[in-house]
Amino acid sequence: MEENHRIIGINRVLEDEQIETSLRPRWMKEYIGQDKVKSKLEIFIQAARIRGEPIDHILLHGPPGLGKTTLANIIANEMGVNIKVTSGPAIERPSDLASILTNLAAGDVLFIDEIHRIHRSVEEVLYPAMEDFALDIIVGKGPSARSLRIDLEHFTLIGATTRAGQLSSPLRDRFGVMLNLEIYGQKHLSTIINRSAQILGVPIDEAGAGEIAKRSRGTPRIANRLLKRVRDYSEVMADGVIDYETSVKGLDILEVDERGLDSTDIRILETIVENFGGGPVGIDTIAASTGEESVTIEDVYEPYLLQIGFLNRTPRGRVLTKKAYDHLGIPYGERE
Ligand code: ADE
Repeated sequence: MEENHRIIGINRVLEDEQIETSLRPRWMKEYIGQDKVKSKLEIFIQAARIRGEPIDHILLHGPPGLGKTTLANIIANEMGVNIKVTSGPAIERPSDLASILTNLAAGDVLFIDEIHRIHRSVEEVLYPAMEDFALDIIVGKGPSARSLRIDLEHFTLIGATTRAGQLSSPLRDRFGVMLNLEIYGQKHLSTIINRSAQILGVPIDEAGAGEIAKRSRGTPRIANRLLKRVRDYSEVMADGVIDYETSVKGLDILEVDERGLDSTDIRILETIVENFGGGPVGIDTIAASTGEESVTIEDVYEPYLLQIGFLNRTPRGRVLTKKAYDHLGIPYGERE
C-alpha cells in the first residue's frame, strides 16, 4: 500500500499538519516523554540563556513521527528566537541556502528536516556557516575568480534525521549536541492522547486512551491520528465518549490490529515466515519479496517491530521471534 494511505503511515500528511499545529506542545513543560533528551536540552537552553549566547548546533535523530520538528520549535520558543523551517531535499542549490542563511537574525534557529538528504554542494556551504558563521562565495570566473567571505549572524542549526548513519562525518562532527529520540512507551502515549483529547474537547476514559496508545506504534503522530478517527467513530456510532469499547471497535474498522500492525506489517512478517523459514534474511531480500523499499522497511516498519520484540537483527539478517509467530497464529515449532 502506498505509505501515505496507511492510517498508521508514518509520513506527515496535510491533516497531520493541521492536527500537529493545534496539538503541538509549545513549551518544554508541555512536552511529554523523551525524559533524557528533555533534561539535557533544559540544561543547554538555560546555560545558553545565562551566557546570552545562541544554543549550540543540535542534531536530533530517531524514527519519524516522534516530534523532532516539535522539539525544534520548542527550543526556539524557549530561547525566544525565530525559527526558519526547511528540509534537506528542499534546498536545491548552494545559493538557496546562502539566501536562507543571510536572512537569519542573531540567535535564530534554522531547522533542516531530513538533513541526511541534503545535496553535497549545499552541504559544503553549511560547513563554514556552522563552524565560523561565514559564507564563502566565489566571485567572477576563470583566473580572475576570487573567494569572498561574508559574515553571518550567530545562528543555531537544528538538523533532524531518521538515519544519523547516513550523515557525512564532517557534517556530523559540526553538531555540538546529538540527541536520540526513542519510540514512546504506552504510559507516555496515553498521556499524550489524554492531552490531545482535552485540547480537542473529546471525552475519553483511561481504557479508551490506553487502547489507542497500544495501537499507535509508539508514535505520537499516529496516536493523534487514531484519536481523531476513533472520535469520528464514537460520534457517529456511539455516544461520543471514547471508552474501551468504542476505541476497540473504531480501531478494528481501521484495520489496525491489537499491536498496531496493519496489512503491510503482516505481509512483511508472513513473507519472512513463508519464503525464508523465519530468517535470517537480509533487508534487501525482504524488500524485493514484499515490493516495499529497503529504506522504508528500515525506517518505518522495522523500528516498531524490533521494539515490540517481533523481529531481531543479527549479523546474518533479520530473524522473526516466537512472539511474532504467536501473533500470526503460526506454530513456532514448525519453522524450517
Ligand atoms: N504531541 C506530539 N508529541 C508530543 C509530546 N511529546 N508531548 C506532548 N504532546 C505531543
